[in-house]
Parts: sequence; structure tokens; C-alpha cells
Amino acid sequence: MLSTNKHAGRHDVAQPTMIGFLHKDIASEVKGIVKKTDATCDIRTITGALKEELIGFRSDPCVVLLQMAASEADEFDVVEDFLNRNPHLSVIIVCDDVPFEQVRRLMRAGALDILPRPLKEDEFLVALEAAFIRVSNAKISGGTARTGKVITFMKACGGVGGTTLAIQAAHALSGTAKRRQKVCLIDFDLQFGNVAMYLDVVDGGELSDLLREPEIIDATLFSSVASSHPSGIDIIAAPQTVWSLDSIQVDQAQKIIEVAAQLYDYVIIDLPDYWTDWSKQIIDNAHAVVLVMQMTVAAVRHARRRLDLLQAEGLGAVPVFVVANRYKKPTVFTTDTIKQDEVEKALGHQIDFALPSNYKVVNEAQTQGIPIAEAEGGRKFAADLSKVAEAISARI
Ligand SMILES: Nc1ncnc2c1ncn2[C@@H]1O[C@H](COP(=O)(O)OP(=O)(O)OP(=O)(O)O)[C@@H](O)[C@H]1O
Ligand SMILES: [Mg+2]
Repeated sequence: MLSTNKHAGRHDVAQPTMIGFLHKDIASEVKGIVKKTDATCDIRTITGALKEELIGFRSDPCVVLLQMAASEADEFDVVEDFLNRNPHLSVIIVCDDVPFEQVRRLMRAGALDILPRPLKEDEFLVALEAAFIRVSNAKISGGTARTGKVITFMKACGGVGGTTLAIQAAHALSGTAKRRQKVCLIDFDLQFGNVAMYLDVVDGGELSDLLREPEIIDATLFSSVASSHPSGIDIIAAPQTVWSLDSIQVDQAQKIIEVAAQLYDYVIIDLPDYWTDWSKQIIDNAHAVVLVMQMTVAAVRHARRRLDLLQAEGLGAVPVFVVANRYKKPTVFTTDTIKQDEVEKALGHQIDFALPSNYKVVNEAQTQGIPIAEAEGGRKFAADLSKVAEAISARI
């Protein structure tokens, strides 16, 4: 029998709370069972589409009991989206006759348990107990456990392909339908960010919505600002208007990265050209820096300056991967590209990866707002990009 009294004496554990989104037919049954525990519960009766009931729902970590109709195929999408957006909640789903594939899908998205109708009291109490323990643990740890890998994309100079590669890396790391990884791409290019434009995200939340007091920047706020792109990644777009460089405080950048890493398997960051205290803070928190350059004298010079800057700022311990974008393999007839060994000597760093130029597919993807993998003729180029993203991920 569930009793939260076992936490008696642990004053750090708040009284558990459950919020139920239930149809009238089981609401009173659930209330009756919960009454037998010392949990508090707030039952909201579903009167229309579940999607409407869940819009704008925000809560600190708590147990959520969701009743869904298996006959409404789109309710699986609604619940999956809810789970993805609220990883800090312990969600139990009540549903009749859920197909096995859908059970797996909801469990993968983070559902704690899925209970069939009619509800069995003992099964329900076991699920509730597990959910309350999870909520208590989340509250004790402050929900700050770091999970995601943070990879920052830094361009040697403007226009070398930093944003293009950050988007593709994010998409590649989000995996396949069979093995989905949660990825968020944050456009920190505060003044001239292009992520939303390249992915055709018109009106979603933006970075400026996150620039609040650090205590307020939490999983709930972050999830409400992130836009889900049809490709499977979430994005935080740069502001649509030009913001001054000092609009971000170091502690805000720190908190944004921390919360993102708590929510996602990978946090990909598109950094701006300019150097600020907050970009330093972001790199200090990163698992890797991907320095994107091209094989031109100017780009190599700027790449070298960036590498020196990282050392000078005490960031030498963060692994750096140099990517030569739009790389043209030299032949005996080539006279217009500088040689790789000369570049590496000038950089004092090897070129870790090289990616070819493919204007047609890159342009096609950016015009349609889709990842390169989905653009016509983009499969080979996307596979090259995936290899780079996976190799970096494997080494951090
Ligand atoms: N490998 C590539 N092949 C062909 N075109 C590319 C490639 N990579 C990037 N481009 C093109 O180069 C242009 C600049 O790319 P992108 O915006 O990604 O660069 P950036 O370094 O982020 O620039 P910015 O300084 O504007 O932030 C875009 O038009 C993009 O389509
Ligand atoms: Mg850019």
C-alpha cells in the first residue's frame, strides 16, 4: 500500500502531488484510490481534445496521470510530444488496448508506466509509488543531473559554414526512428543567427525568451521556448531583432546550458563570430568545440587566432575538432588551394575532418527548411556529415 509516510522525518521531501487529466468515467474511481494514500491530487476532467487540455500546462516535478483514447491515433502524437517536453514529470498513462508498438513508443518518450483499463487498484498503487519516488528524487537532486553532451560550433570567420554544419550535426545525432536521441540546437548567434531561417521555423520561441533571472530558467521554461522541428530536433532560435552583445549574462548562459544538458542527449550550439564572456562560459561547459574553417588564407589565419584565443582564455582542456568545409581535394593540376600540411602547420593543429562543397544540396535543403539528408540528392553528403558528427560524439 502506498504511503508517503515512509518519507516522514525527511523534511526535504515535499508532499507528493498528482495531477490527473481524466475522463469523467474514471475520475471518481481514481480519486477514491488516491484518497487511500497521503498524496494530494488535482483531477482535471477532460471535456474535449486531450491536446487542448494539455496546452500551456506547466508544473514543477510531479506525478501526472493521463487518460488517452487508443482509438484516436493522433493522441499518441499528443502524448509523445507532452512526454518529450516534460521530462521532469513522472507520467502514468491510462488507456484501453494500447498496441504494443505504441506502448514502446510512449515508454521510449519517457512514460513511467502504462496502465490498461479497467484500472486495477493494486497495479495503480504500485505505479503511483514508483512515480512518487521518482518525483522525490528529482526534487532532492534539484533535477540538475547532467546528461547531455554539449558541442559548440565556432566558425573561423563569417560564412565558412558554421551554421550549416551545426544543423546537420544536430540532425545526424538525433538518430533514426528506431533509436531516437533528443537533440536541441541553440542559436547563440544573438545578432545574425540563421538557424531558424535555414530550418524554416517561422514563429517559435527564441533565445531572448530564456534571458530571465537564472533561478527562473528551468526545464519548464526551456521546454516552452524550444520549437520542435519536423526533422526531429528541437531548436531555440536567435532573436528576430538584433540584440546587443551584452544582453546575455554569464550566469544566464551557464543556466541555459545546464538546463539544456539536463533535458537533451545532445546540445548543439551555434556560436557567434564575436567573443564575449558568455561565449567563453559556454565553451567552458562544452564537451567539444568544432572549429569550422575553409582552406583559404583568411579562414586559416582566423582559425589560428581562435585556437590561440582558446588557449589564452584557459580553455585548452576542451577538445577541439577542426573541420575544413568545402574542401577540394588537390590534384596534380590544382594550383588554387593551399596544401593540407601547410594549413596544419599554420594552425598548429591537424585538420580532423574535411567536407566537400555541394552547393546544390545545401541550397536545396536551406530553401526548403529541411536537413540535407532529406534534400534531393543529399543522401551521400548527409552520410559524410553523419560520419563526422558520430566520430566527434564517440570521442567526447
Ligand atoms: N559544404 C558546403 N557546400 C556548399 N555550400 C555550403 C557548404 N557549407 C555551407 N555552404 C553555404 O555557405 C553559406 C554560408 O553558410 P553558413 O551560413 O552555414 O555559414 P556561417 O559560418 O554560419 O556564416 P555566418 O557568418 O553568417 O554565421 C550558405 O549559403 C551555405 O548554403
Ligand atoms: Mg552562422
